[in-house]
This record gives sequence, C-alpha cells and structure tokens, in this order.
Amino acid sequence: MHPVAELEQRYLVQAYGRAPFVLAGGHGAWLEDADGNSYLDLAAGIAVNALGHGDPDVVAALRDAAASPLHYSNLYLSEPMVRLAQRLVEATPFANRVHFQNSGTESNEAAIKFARKWARTHFGEGKTDIVAFSGGFHGRTMGALAATPRPKYQDPFRPLMPGVRFATFNDLDSAAQVVDDQVCAVILEPIQGEGGIYAASSEFMAGLRELTHRHQALLILDEVQCGVGRTGAFWAYEHYGILPDMLCAAKPLASGLPIGAVLVTDRVAEVIHAGDHGTTFAGGPFVTAVADAVVRKVSEPTFLAHVQEVGAYFRERLEEINSPHIKEVRGRGLMLGVQLDIPAGPVIQAGYKQGVILLNAGPDVLRLVPPLILSKAEVDQGVERLSAALAAAA
Ligand SMILES: Cc1ncc(COP(=O)(O)O)c(C=O)c1O
Repeated sequence: MHPVAELEQRYLVQAYGRAPFVLAGGHGAWLEDADGNSYLDLAAGIAVNALGHGDPDVVAALRDAAASPLHYSNLYLSEPMVRLAQRLVEATPFANRVHFQNSGTESNEAAIKFARKWARTHFGEGKTDIVAFSGGFHGRTMGALAATPRPKYQDPFRPLMPGVRFATFNDLDSAAQVVDDQVCAVILEPIQGEGGIYAASSEFMAGLRELTHRHQALLILDEVQCGVGRTGAFWAYEHYGILPDMLCAAKPLASGLPIGAVLVTDRVAEVIHAGDHGTTFAGGPFVTAVADAVVRKVSEPTFLAHVQEVGAYFRERLEEINSPHIKEVRGRGLMLGVQLDIPAGPVIQAGYKQGVILLNAGPDVLRLVPPLILSKAEVDQGVERLSAALAAAA
C-alpha cells in the first residue's frame, strides 16, 4: 500500500471510498498520480474543475488575489464579492441578487430558509413545507438531506428536518398531489446528477412552474451540478423557457475552490434582512476573485458553443461503442450518463488501469462530467479507454 494511503487509513475518518492511487498533479484535462501514471480526467473532481487544471486565467486570478488579504468577513465591504454578484446577475435573466455560501449543500440550506422566511412574511405561520423529488440529491446537511430521499443517506441520521414531501421526478400528476397551499417551495435539479443523469422533461418543468404559481410557492432550481456551462448553456434552466425564483450554484463556480451561491429575485431578497442568515467565510475576496475569472470565461458564447459541440461529439462517440452492456446514453452538453446493465464500480476500477478517471451515478450508470475545456481529440482518447475498461470489466 502507498504510504499516503496508509496514513489516510490511520488518521482520517473513513467516510469515503477512495481510488487506489495518490494524485500528485495535473494539467488541462489530465491528472497524474504519485507513481507517474497519467489519467484523462472525465470526472473533474465531481463536476467541479470546469476549466480543468492550471487554466491561465484562473492561475492569474489566484496570483493577484493571493497578494491581498484572504479574508475580511461579511462585516465589511470588498470589491471582488460585489463584482462577482454583478457578473452573476448579469448572466442570469431571472435573478436580481446573490447570497454567497461555501458549498452546494449550504446553498440549498439558504434557499430553504429564504423560502420559509418569504412564506412566513407574506402568508403567516403554516406555509413551511418543501416538495422534493425521487432521485434528487441536494446535499448532506440536515435541511438538504431531508430533501434527498435516499435511505442510505438519511436513515442513520434521523430525525430529519420535518415538512418535506416527495413526488416522483418527471411525473406532474404526482407533484400535483403534494403541492398545496402549505408548500412554500418546490426544489429540483433540472438534470439530476447523483440520481443517474436524468433530465426533467420540458412539460414537467413548465407544469411545476404553473403549480408553484397557483399555490404561491417558490420554485428553487438546484444547479449545483448542472449549472455554470455544463449543459452548454450557462444555466441548465435556459433550455426550458421557464424562470425560477431561486437558483443554487456551487461546484464549478470557482473551478476548484469552495464556493456556493443562491441567486434570487428581488421578491425573495426583500424579506431577508441583516442577521437573518450568514456564514463566516462566504463571499471572501480570494474565492470570489477566482470565481469572477471562471464566470467571465464560461459565460462567453464561444465557450458555451465549445461545450455544446464537444458534448454532442462525446455523446455520438459513446453511442458508437459496440458493447452489449450499454443500454442508453443520456444527458446534455458535458453532463452525460451511460446506462449499463452491469455494475459501474468494476468499470471505474478498470478505467484506472486504462488511464481514465470515470465516475458513477448510482449503481449502474457511468457519469461523464469532464472539465468543460475537453477537446474532441481527448473525447476520442476517453472513449477508447472507456471501451477498453468496459471490455475488461464485463
Ligand atoms: C445537485 C447537487 N446539489 C447539492 C450537492 C451538494 O453539494 P456539496 O457537496 O458542495 O455540499 C451536490 C453534490 O454532489 C449536487 O450534485
């Protein structure tokens, strides 16, 4: 066993199943381990490293930001936070304001709290329930976890936050049965990530918008995984022709540094006052300066066109793989799922030997969420390595 793996087993809480090598570097869409093996990174640190590793604009922003204080606190004003908020609002037609967090789960917590405060302000006590969906994943903290209906994640930690109702994803009738006037918000991922790369249908999304309007509830989109360019639009909801009331972002927003953000309308923002919600680190000058460089680059139409083009090519190449174990290829842009009829775990392990980093989404789906800078030549290499891993594992 590698000495780093031995130390990990000795000193860390064993809360993760980790890959059997030690990462020690990387550039672009490639990673290297401590033994000098290189891997094509089709996981991007779970849909995080949007610009890959060592992007020159990110590095320049990091260098500049590192020369200033790293932290001031939300008690004081600083320019990078305000600039990033402005850039996000300008890139997001429905949004008027931003509240920063440090992670995806925290963004969802903030959205849940904002929804409750909004409903209490306008309708008094009793309008506190949240509707979430089968297959959804919103995070591991108590509010987000309560909206994540997976027994493995929820059961050891009960009791959960009360007041969450569930409906079946992409089944509008099922949603209509649980959305009523006691509901303050409906939360969903436009494309479910952890749940297996399932996109909401246009009818479902439009129907939820109509239902939430009818029952004066807010529509919260969790774009922690599918947002910030991943689907070939800056936000995934842009594919749907609806406007949400809140949108939660995190993972790729600073291309690897921890950040979260909730984008909201003025209608929501106006019920939140000083002291209602906050966190020590969020919106700090270092992370927001880096996120600003990421958003500037990813929101460029030419960058988004690259994601669309390479995503479509990747999908085509995956569909051409001649394996009896591939049942379906689905997803959008560079958020793709390969439905297998065998477990994904052994394919991922075999992928390491072939020099490719793959992810799963559930037991039998390979999830491909590479850096958005992936080239077509790298897609070809990825497909070759993935095919070899599939053949080795089957
Ligand atoms: C859609 C979605 N929401 C929320 C989260 C939680 O984000 P974090 O791990 O940053 O708390 C994730 C993480 O995978 C996610 O995919």
